[in-house]
Amino acid sequence: MSTSAATTYLNQGKTCCAALKLVLPGKVSYPDSTPYNLSLTSYWSVQEENVHPTCVVSATNTLDVALSVFLLTIGGQVFPGQCDFAVRSGGHTPFVGAANIQQGITIDLSALNQVTPSKDLSTVTVGPGNRWSQVYSKLDALGIAVGGGRVAIVGVGGLTLGGGVSFFSPRYGFVCDSIVRFEVVLAAGLTVNVTKSSYPDLWVALKGGSNNFGVVTAFESTAFKQGKFWGGFIGNDISTKDAQFAAFEALNGNPNYDEYAALINSYVYTPATNTWYIANNIEYTKAQANPPFFANFTSLPQTFSTMRISNLTDFTIELAASNPDGRRQLFVTGTYGNSARMMSNIFDIANSTVQALRDVPGIAYSLSFQPVPTVITSKAAARGGNSLGLSAADGNLFNLLLTVSWDTEADDALINTQAKALFDQFATVSKQLGLFNEYLYLNYAAPWQKPIAGYGAASVANLKAVSKKYDPKGVFQVQVPGGFKLSD
Ligand SMILES: Cc1cc2nc3c(=O)[nH]c(=O)nc-3n(C[C@H](O)[C@H](O)[C@H](O)COP(=O)(O)OP(=O)(O)OC[C@H]3O[C@@H](n4cnc5c(N)ncnc54)[C@H](O)[C@@H]3O)c2cc1C
Ligand SMILES: *[C@@H]1O[C@H](CO)[C@@H](O)[C@H](O)[C@H]1NC(C)=O
Ligand SMILES: *[C@@H]1O[C@H](CO)[C@@H](O)[C@H](O)[C@H]1NC(C)=O
Ligand SMILES: *[C@@H]1O[C@H](CO)[C@@H](O)[C@H](O)[C@H]1NC(C)=O
Ligand SMILES: *[C@@H]1O[C@H](CO)[C@@H](O)[C@H](O)[C@H]1NC(C)=O
Ligand SMILES: *[C@@H]1O[C@H](CO)[C@@H](O)[C@H](O)[C@H]1NC(C)=O
Repeated sequence: MSTSAATTYLNQGKTCCAALKLVLPGKVSYPDSTPYNLSLTSYWSVQEENVHPTCVVSATNTLDVALSVFLLTIGGQVFPGQCDFAVRSGGHTPFVGAANIQQGITIDLSALNQVTPSKDLSTVTVGPGNRWSQVYSKLDALGIAVGGGRVAIVGVGGLTLGGGVSFFSPRYGFVCDSIVRFEVVLAAGLTVNVTKSSYPDLWVALKGGSNNFGVVTAFESTAFKQGKFWGGFIGNDISTKDAQFAAFEALNGNPNYDEYAALINSYVYTPATNTWYIANNIEYTKAQANPPFFANFTSLPQTFSTMRISNLTDFTIELAASNPDGRRQLFVTGTYGNSARMMSNIFDIANSTVQALRDVPGIAYSLSFQPVPTVITSKAAARGGNSLGLSAADGNLFNLLLTVSWDTEADDALINTQAKALFDQFATVSKQLGLFNEYLYLNYAAPWQKPIAGYGAASVANLKAVSKKYDPKGVFQVQVPGGFKLSD
């Protein structure tokens, strides 16, 4: 919890900003300057953009980050609550304060955007400030890829530390499962390379631990050969929804899950007509059109299709078009056992409650279902594990993401209250059906959800022990109040 709100009468980060400016000339900016404004306007949601830090540190290398964390740690000991800070990569978390801080210091990692393949192309070292399309455009040209975000503009840092779902997840697991090395600035500024052999406990903690352990300045990820593949969007009328739910359950539950298949099955509400339409993002990471594994989807009558064989960069740019920035945004997530019946319940409950939001100015509302079959959750074990608390023992699951965007702050409370009630109902129904799972994907979670607790007691205990060991004063628990904390 931040103490800064209670102590705003003091200097609100000014002392630490001044010290940082001395040590990092030209890299610390204040309100009403071009670099400060550029940092703010590059957040995805309006809520994060409206948070005004006392100063922004635009780090350009690991040493800048180490010096910043060193100074901020000391400053926080001398002036408790006066040197709170935020860590920001792509700035795509929707909610206030996840990667920005009012009256504090925001360390902006946008310029840490290296993409460096190893000589033999077996790994790629990626800076946290990259957007995924920057990574993929370099790798496409080399005929390789790494696991990463599916939407061009999303950042590397947050996505990877929260788990990360990629088109390649059925082949290689969560994005974090492919990380062989994290370069991390720990509390007090010590920089270390964290691998399975150098710091095995921290290496596992960072795979799901978000900003709770340090500032990651580089990720080295296992790469693989990847050429063009088949993908795009297929639109369908809402009248096909029951066939969609059945097709989804059959695909997700297929004991011979085709690991080249990736799917986002979305239901998009149209307030003007009070109707819905369906958009399936289908990717098959081989250059093969219409694979039989998707036949239950591709055989349904289509309203549009962009399916084609293209490169990874191109597919992520296509997805970015349906996720514009500059709006008020809410993400909420849930995880349930694979079931068409549960999907149908979710749709019906959402459809009955969305009616009350129909007149909210600028309302956009969608439900996205993604398969989380055991072929994904089982990959971590062979790769040294992660902290997400999921395994094949959970069975085939699906992830639900509710995305709401709207125009004005006046509707924030209504939207959040509705969404909370909605997910309470989903929890009740899923428990009745024996389909509830406590896991919540951190990168899709609302600020009032508790994704780290959802990793399970064993994982939480481990994360707390690792935090005590590498950050005994709890700098990343207390002085970095944003995002999801271990004690939440
Ligand atoms: C349009 C859109 C599309 C998306 N698509 C996908 C997708 O395909 N797959 C998927 O898995 N998720 C997806 N997401 C969710 C995404 O993973 C999260 O929004 C994620 O937080 C984005 O990472 P970022 O670096 O942009 O976030 P930021 O908001 O910058 O950071 C997120 C959190 O991580 C912390 N953090 C960031 N960088 C570091 C670092 N280097 N060291 C320590 N802590 C750090 C921050 O402090 C913050 O709490 C999408 C989100 C959006 C908005
Ligand atoms: C920065 O943004 C503020 C608020 O939008 C604006 O008033 C100011 O002119 C901008 N300053 C610069 C230097 O861009
Ligand atoms: C990827 O595909 C797009 C669209 O066809 C094309 O413009 C771009 O040059 C391709 N990039 C690479 C590296 O092949
Ligand atoms: C981490 O390893 C990389 C690659 O081997 C190296 O360039 C970097 O200097 C190392 N960082 C630290 C802090 O040892
Ligand atoms: C298609 O759906 C049918 C009926 O639900 C199912 O038996 C079959 O396995 C599905 N096919 C695939 C490839 O998932
Ligand atoms: C959504 O709910 C409205 C109002 O109850 C109803 O008229 C409509 O048929 C529902 N839509 C679907 C696709 O079930």
